[in-house]
Amino acid sequence: MAGSNQDGENQSSLDEEGDSKSNREQIEAVREAGTRDESLDQDEVSSEDDAQQSIRDMLNDEGEASVFVNRDLVEPDTIIDEERIVGRDDQLESVVSFLKPTLQGNRPPNMLLYGPAGTGKSLIIGAVTKQIIELCQSKGEYFGVVDINCQPINTLDQAVYELVQTVAKDVGTEVGVPETGVSTKRKYRRLYELINEHYDSVIFILDEIDLLVGRRENDEPAYSKLLYQLSRASNTNEIEGRVSVAALTNDPKFMEDIDGRAESSFNPRDVYFPDYDANQLREILQNRRDAFRQDALEDDVIPLVAAFAAQSHGDARKAIDLFRGAGDLADERGDEEVTEDHVRDSQEEIDKDRSLKLVEGLTTQKKISLYATAAVAYYSNRTGSSVPSPVGFKVYQWVTNDLDADQMTRETYVKYVKELSTYGLISTSRKSRGRGGGMYMEFTFTGDPEAMMTRIIDDTRFEGMANQEELLRSVVNAQLKEFHEQ
Ligand SMILES: Nc1ncnc2c1ncn2[C@@H]1O[C@H](COP(=O)(O)OP(=O)(O)O)[C@@H](O)[C@H]1O
Ligand SMILES: [Mg+2]
Repeated sequence: MAGSNQDGENQSSLDEEGDSKSNREQIEAVREAGTRDESLDQDEVSSEDDAQQSIRDMLNDEGEASVFVNRDLVEPDTIIDEERIVGRDDQLESVVSFLKPTLQGNRPPNMLLYGPAGTGKSLIIGAVTKQIIELCQSKGEYFGVVDINCQPINTLDQAVYELVQTVAKDVGTEVGVPETGVSTKRKYRRLYELINEHYDSVIFILDEIDLLVGRRENDEPAYSKLLYQLSRASNTNEIEGRVSVAALTNDPKFMEDIDGRAESSFNPRDVYFPDYDANQLREILQNRRDAFRQDALEDDVIPLVAAFAAQSHGDARKAIDLFRGAGDLADERGDEEVTEDHVRDSQEEIDKDRSLKLVEGLTTQKKISLYATAAVAYYSNRTGSSVPSPVGFKVYQWVTNDLDADQMTRETYVKYVKELSTYGLISTSRKSRGRGGGMYMEFTFTGDPEAMMTRIIDDTRFEGMANQEELLRSVVNAQLKEFHEQ
């Protein structure tokens, strides 16, 4: 906890100095100084015993008064103990029953865990496999859990390499194959070799699998190929032990895009993770209230955090982020108790910050994708400002031409925009054009698309876009018209 360490240091240097001002003045000065401790310079400070005592008390009080005692508990990436898991009994039961055969030496079925962001998919599969690893170990068996997140991965080749790396790290050996310059086949071979050497059975966990689309247009998506390969690796004897594959996704219609071959070899058991309601979120937060000092939470804080998070799709990650944010804000302001105000202000900051930070940190390609999508939402003359992905992509192509930038495939464009939905900037849904017309994604902005465009234009690489408003508006509406008349 970096914050509280710093406080500790500030405090001890002040302790030694003492002060000549009145208690009250001193207290005010300390309060005002807050974290800007350098502003209390030594000249203001001399020694006067009675003052020193009460300042010390005061400072000691404040030192202990970080509202947190275990801030880690409200970090979203902390792996929590299973006692803290609430509200996912059905999903736990299913996953446990599917994976139980592992312990009897049988092959568990493949699984598809699906549901919106922050509903505990990664948590539940992680918690169950962790126990299985331990139980297997106690019997002298090696159960390998090979867990990768597909979000940052662009191609099948990278995904296979990531799997090799993950196994090598787990078993403490060399990756044994270069990242580039060799065929994907060789990477598969190395993967199977490592698994055969070190594990009796293995489960692949492919998190956020729908984001592994690959690069080539008109080709089977990379996730489909990967699922096919991995789920048949034991039938083909490439892997000697028992193999199963668990795919995790936010996309409820994920299986619709899977190639028939992959579908029949993967053939998963489904586990659905619905949104949490406010009661469940409250329970999840209650179970982590020991992140805070016992008396540091005003009664209404947890219900209010839960209510905010329930509004934004019942995402437990967002609830935990807000809980932590409110605490940080209380600390920042030197308040001893977290109040409703901290929650409300923190929610406001989160809303503002999220889009700002996010947009600034995007790669140029992602910025272009977002810019084009926001332009459609903003310039559209139609009522409702949702963006059909084919239109977004056409505008994306126009923008890349105009900026003389690289042009990605439609799949990659869709992947980039979908990624933004994991941050809550955009919501996505799948639409059908009716009989034989195929599927497309539809994007809707939760915030203001214009603000987002303005922020992107700040990037010097987008200078060329600045005076193109009218042109862009007409491109957008022409493309929308074409799309809807098809
Ligand atoms: N049922 C639950 N009980 C306790 N904490 C939860 C629960 N569900 C989710 N969380 C917490 O919320 C955050 C997001 O959960 P995660 O499993 O990553 O969601 P998903 O994979 O569905 O997006 C994590 O910090 C996790 O610990
Ligand atoms: Mg997850």
